[in-house]
Amino acid sequence: MSTRTGEAYEAFDAVDVIRAKRDRGRLTDAQIDWVIDAYTRGAVAEEQMAALNMAILLNGMDRAEISRWTAAMIASGERMDFSGLSRPTSDKHSTGGVGDKITLPLAPLVAVFGVAVPQLSGRGLGHTGGTLDKLESIPGWRAALSNDEMLAQLEDVGAVICQAGSGLAPADRKLYALRDVTGTVEAIPLIASSIMSKKIAEGTDSLVLDVKVGSGAFMKDLDAARELARTMVDLGTDAGVRTVALLTDMSTPLGLTAGNALEVRESVEVLAGGGPADVVELTVALAREMLTAAGVTGVDPADALADGRAMDVWNRMIAAQGGDPHADLPVARETQTVVAESDGVVARVDALAVGVAAWRLGAGRARKEDPVQAGAGVELHAKPGDTVRAGDRLLTLHTDTPERFARAQEALAGAVVVTSGDRVEPSPLLIDRIAAG
Ligand code: URA
Repeated sequence: MSTRTGEAYEAFDAVDVIRAKRDRGRLTDAQIDWVIDAYTRGAVAEEQMAALNMAILLNGMDRAEISRWTAAMIASGERMDFSGLSRPTSDKHSTGGVGDKITLPLAPLVAVFGVAVPQLSGRGLGHTGGTLDKLESIPGWRAALSNDEMLAQLEDVGAVICQAGSGLAPADRKLYALRDVTGTVEAIPLIASSIMSKKIAEGTDSLVLDVKVGSGAFMKDLDAARELARTMVDLGTDAGVRTVALLTDMSTPLGLTAGNALEVRESVEVLAGGGPADVVELTVALAREMLTAAGVTGVDPADALADGRAMDVWNRMIAAQGGDPHADLPVARETQTVVAESDGVVARVDALAVGVAAWRLGAGRARKEDPVQAGAGVELHAKPGDTVRAGDRLLTLHTDTPERFARAQEALAGAVVVTSGDRVEPSPLLIDRIAAG
């Protein structure tokens, strides 16, 4: 049935589309194209899209429907074009976690090998930090670049980490805000199409997905994370983007820091050839995947961390966006420590609790317009598997506003478990790899 809204005739009636999915039917290509377009221009009401999202959450979509839904979201905005660059492009997307600063060392590391990395990133919301918030703790660094500035930096330096323009997949922005307030964020077809519409519109040749699993991740459950990874790999592949996913552990924070300037400092340690073993392992694993996907073989990215080549690209990448890579980073005014109550081995440091504590200390924001504190966050002194003595520091909390300590400590109650045994095997970081096919 077609209807008339105002002066325009509409090809479909939103209620028919909702009923089709409510009754477990498949949506046709024409219905999907129409509903995304009509919603973006305001001809499908928020309550109608909310009902359709809930029907999708409950009844799912098949591969062809998800592909079409993603294509319709891409068509709602502009597409970037990197085909004029002299280098192949490769990008990484992480579904988000606590202490996940991997983009910072990874982008310059991959660029060392002649692959351009256009990393369009976001700000943090909730307990996971945002890459742009982290980089903004570097004095002078600027997140907003025009498309021309971005292309010039990709050609010259090889790596850009900047804010995604508002023109990419505008349907997703509207849809995500609606899902957030209607209990429909968790639908795998909607998460996959939301992430992939932005990545495909960005125009990268290849994409490596880091799908996190565990308490600090969006996906707490391995089967759901695997399904999300498979769905996104299929979507990328169907759109002609070489896509591979790693499933990685997020039951404990990555590295030893969660918080903006704290994470930049740790990333610089990794670029200097040091840093925590798990951050190095994941950075190198993702770099290998990105280089392979971009057709670069026979090189070892670990060498470029050890010999300073990745650091050179980092310095140029930060300077190109107005930052001073050698400036002192902000430090929080106040600290408080959490110490071990007994001798033993650390069995658990819960990622979600650390993420919430860092957020409450001022590293994250509750509303998207809130400011963040550059120096705030949580520093870990021990990770699962480490031996500690009673009185040893387990965590240091950093903030400019000491009245925040109490709520952060509340979030950390029970977060660090020390057992009396003599050995704890930490969970493996790399859980699985999902490729096209
Ligand atoms: N990130 C996105 O961009 N979209 C989602 O739906 C979830 C996470």
